[in-house]
Amino acid sequence: MNHHRIGVIGLGQRIAHVLAAMKETGWMLEVAGYADASPVGLPILAGAGIDPGRAYADEAALLADGPFDLVMIGSPNHLHFDHLNAAFAASFPIFAEKPIVRTFAESYALARTLAAGTAPPLFIGLVMRSMPIVREVIARVDSGELGELISMDATEHLPPEHGAYLARNWRRRQDWGGSFMLDKVCHDFDIFGRIAGSRPAQVASFGGRRIFRPDRADVPLTYEDGSAAYALRDAGWMGANDAFQSDMDVDDHQVAIVRYESGLALSFHSNSHVALQERRWYIAGANGTMLADLVRNRLMIRPALDRRKPERIDYATRTSDNHNGADQAMAIDLLAALDGERAFPVTPRDSLEAGLTVMAIDEASATRRMVDCAPMWAAFDEALAGRG
Ligand SMILES: NC(=O)c1ccc[n+]([C@@H]2O[C@H](COP(=O)([O-])OP(=O)(O)OC[C@H]3O[C@@H](n4cnc5c(N)ncnc54)[C@H](O)[C@@H]3O)[C@@H](O)[C@H]2O)c1
Repeated sequence: MNHHRIGVIGLGQRIAHVLAAMKETGWMLEVAGYADASPVGLPILAGAGIDPGRAYADEAALLADGPFDLVMIGSPNHLHFDHLNAAFAASFPIFAEKPIVRTFAESYALARTLAAGTAPPLFIGLVMRSMPIVREVIARVDSGELGELISMDATEHLPPEHGAYLARNWRRRQDWGGSFMLDKVCHDFDIFGRIAGSRPAQVASFGGRRIFRPDRADVPLTYEDGSAAYALRDAGWMGANDAFQSDMDVDDHQVAIVRYESGLALSFHSNSHVALQERRWYIAGANGTMLADLVRNRLMIRPALDRRKPERIDYATRTSDNHNGADQAMAIDLLAALDGERAFPVTPRDSLEAGLTVMAIDEASATRRMVDCAPMWAAFDEALAGRG
């Protein structure tokens, strides 16, 4: 196995967890150093027994100290575009966290850069693509056994502690995170686009901030057993102390409907303060139905005209981070891709399409009107062709 020298831009919790999964799955890795003035991920790296290497003044100093076999970008979302461009200029392979970028303009500019064909290999951390249950969902749709996909509904519901973390962490601000949906469910919309086999044609959405807001009176701050609520872990970079009194300007719940060009109709429901956690995709095809429970890591599938028990697949792995072994699976995929053994399961173009889909949904929510996506895809296609 090859030894990999790694440089990190943004050594937060996420990159530390990914590095830990890489080590766990047998990577021979050396973290040469990191650019991050307040590296939130250091304790996680220490727990995994990984030396973080040198602290560099900034990404320019880090990148000048190559060569690196991999540059890993785990900064807040608003910095991805600049950090990607800096890493492109240095020409080292890149692993960058999702969402790939945060705005329409950044998406088109990045598409134009990729069109030039000079960028180094770029792998985006849309980790659900590596989950065994998600691979099975995609394989079953591709096999044709569900027939043409007609309609689906999907959810992502977070428990109060997770919602409160988002309301205190940098994700609470559009300027840093983009939006609640962009940060949290670009994963899901990446998979939905993949199984639809087409892009969204029209989207509509409603959302708001009705949970974590300062004017809510008498919010209980303890659980039924007396333990403190809304207190999960340090909020990190630019963190706020109080989930209800912060300067949050992103939504805390949102619903969306989407019509794909293929005809598939989708409804999506997301809430960041629920007592019954859920991430579930219900996919109805002309010839069969599939239900993927991503929290319990279970799949159920049955042909439409079959009254016997549905086929059930129970994936053994369940972990408290709800990634259910996905990080380890992605670490294996990343190594295989870097070593040229097989393609990474998601491309930068897929990642840009997933981001743009969610941005169109957010635009529909902000403007309170249905958005026709055709002009967005026309602009994207121009950019992919190196024009515009
Ligand atoms: N794929 C997934 O499942 C998943 C899960 C969590 C987070 N993420 C993504 O990972 C990224 C990081 O999220 P996180 O949860 O680790 O956040 P975090 O707050 O734990 O870490 C962000 C880090 O970036 C650092 N930073 C801030 N400004 C910087 C700069 N100018 N240069 C370098 N570093 C800088 C901060 O000091 C912090 O250490 C985000 O893009 C997020 O969307 C992905």
